[in-house]
Order: sequence, then structure tokens, then C-alpha cells
Amino acid sequence: MTAPLLYNIRMRASTGGRHISGAERLVPVEMTDGTVRELIERARSKGIDPGQIVITIDSLQGAIIQNIQALDLTAYPARDVAASRNAAGRVLQAAGVSTVALEKATMLLDAGPAPSGGTMRGAMLLDAATGERLEPDRERGVRVSRFDWSSEACAAIDRELAHIGLTHFRTREALSLASKVAHGPSVVAELCWSDDPDYSAGYASSLSTGYVRFPFMKQNGLTTGGRAFFIDRERFDPDTLISYLREEPVIISRIGRCGRINDLSQFLSYRAVNRHV
Ligand code: COA
Ligand code: AMP
Repeated sequence: MTAPLLYNIRMRASTGGRHISGAERLVPVEMTDGTVRELIERARSKGIDPGQIVITIDSLQGAIIQNIQALDLTAYPARDVAASRNAAGRVLQAAGVSTVALEKATMLLDAGPAPSGGTMRGAMLLDAATGERLEPDRERGVRVSRFDWSSEACAAIDRELAHIGLTHFRTREALSLASKVAHGPSVVAELCWSDDPDYSAGYASSLSTGYVRFPFMKQNGLTTGGRAFFIDRERFDPDTLISYLREEPVIISRIGRCGRINDLSQFLSYRAVNRHV
């Protein structure tokens, strides 16, 4: 049986030239109308009236669609920003990120990594060993696109996340983005916290550690944040990686395990012995 043709539907909303929200889906033709309505509702749900909503629909006719498994998700209830960041650092180091690269990423995300001093429109690429920046455009960064859950995996991950008290759609979306990123050629790991002043949670993720979520990666009220993708320089080919992240369609058709932990050392030793790749 041939797989149904999928459409990539992307939404971005802005006001006065400022981006306020974005989301995307990969769906079969019979879901396109409903998905457009959902995305328009989503654009209007931010409490800011969007001056502009752009919806783009691209057929994926002829595209090769990769199926991947989501990263396992682990929630670690660190008590404050210092504890969350310390734990995130330990996860990233276990994944192969050097101390210098980790410190550079944290400093840049706090300061605003764009040359203009603010947040970027996409992610930084940092050499996982030296912390050197590798993205071609430092205002724009690299924006990951063309990924979604399959319908079955989406329902399953919502159930699993609800079991551990994570019911916000942001967690599901961030997990899907991180899962695509972790499977990228030459990607070692990712560090993220939101630039939304009302959302302080963030994560560290990699194929070997899975996605580890921390509640307080920054103080509430701050508009700083972003994403750093740590790269293995020896395997890095900019065009291959950037085209994978931006353009190659990926469906997350299998979920990983979701759970909570209280002992990070035990978790990291377990992951080191049982490589969940
Ligand atoms: N922040 C700021 N500006 C953004 C932006 C963002 N996150 N996303 C888009 N824009 C603006 C930029 O001005 C961009 O121009 P640039 O390419 O020079 O930076 C312009 O919109 C066009 O962006 P583009 O990505 O080409 O638009 P699109 O309509 O094809 O796709 C998104 C827009 C938002 C759907 C897509 O970029 C994206 O981020 N997809 C992933 C969404 C998602 O699931 N996120 C979950 C994260 S938790
Ligand atoms: P958000 O998770 O939407 O709060 O976004 C936090 C930060 O991640 C933004 O400020 C951007 O720097 C970056 N970002 C947003 N969308 C993407 C994307 N699709 N790919 C890579 N980075 C992104």
C-alpha cells in the first residue's frame, strides 16, 4: 500500500513586523481544511491580535519522508534556575558537550545571541568541543521545519505526557522539534529555553540522554532565550545539516518513554550503560 500524499501546512503570525507565534503540521489531504482552521485559531490565541497571519500549504509530492522515533522524555524537578541549569549542564556533558561550549551557549542565550543583542529567529549552531559559532546568519539562525507527529503517535504522546502532568501543547511540540534535531547528521545535543516571559521551562536533549526537561531555565519575566544545537565539527557539513533541519520532512511515528526522576546521577549512569539510541 502506498503512503498517502502529505501536505505541510505552516502558520506564522506577527504584529507590527514582530513574530508572535508559529506552528506547522504534516497532514493528509482530508485533514488540510481542519488544520488550517486550527492553526488560525492558534494564531489568535496568544492574547495579541495578529496584524498578519500567513498560512502556507506545500504538497510533499515526491519528497522522501523519514520516520523516526521520538526521544524519551524525562522530567527532572530541579528546584530553581541554578539547579535546573546545573542539571542541564550535566546532561549535555554526558552527551559529549564540553564545559567551554556549554558556558558559551548559556552566556549567549542569557545575553541575546543575535548581533543586534536580542533573541534570534532560529537556533545557533555551536561546535560541541570549542563553542565556536557555525551558523551562517547570526540574526536568523537555523529554523527547523517540516516535522510532525503521526496521528497515532500524537494521541499516544499526549496520553503519556498527561500521565506525568505535562498537558501543555508546547511540551509535545518542543519534543517533536528536539527529536528531529537529535537525528540530524553531526548533531551532538541541544539546549533550549523559551523567550516567552511567562514560560521558564527548558530542556537539554540528545540521542543518548533523550529529552530532559527542567522547570526553571530562566527567571520568570525575562524575554531572553533560544536554542543552541551542539555540533560534531568532524562530521559537520553545513549544507547537509541545514537542509535536513529546514527542508527534509520527518514524521515522528513512534513515541519514546516518558517519566519523572529525582536522582540525576542514577539517571545518567543508567543512560550511559543502556544507550537508548
Ligand atoms: N521568530 C522570529 N521570526 C520568525 C520566526 C520565529 N520563530 N519564524 C518565522 N519568522 C519570520 C522571519 O522573519 C522569517 O524570515 P527569515 O527566514 O529571514 O528569518 C519569516 O517569518 C519567514 O519564515 P519561514 O520559516 O520561511 O516561514 P514559514 O511560514 O515557512 O514557517 C514557521 C514559519 C514558524 C511555521 C516555521 O519557521 C517553524 O518555526 N516551524 C516549527 C514550528 C514549531 O513546531 N515550533 C515548535 C517549537 S517549540
Ligand atoms: P519558543 O520555543 O517558540 O519559545 O522559541 C524559543 C527560541 O527558539 C526562539 O527565540 C528562537 O530563537 C528559537 N526557535 C523558534 N522556533 C524555532 C525553530 N523552528 N527552529 C529552531 N529554533 C527555533
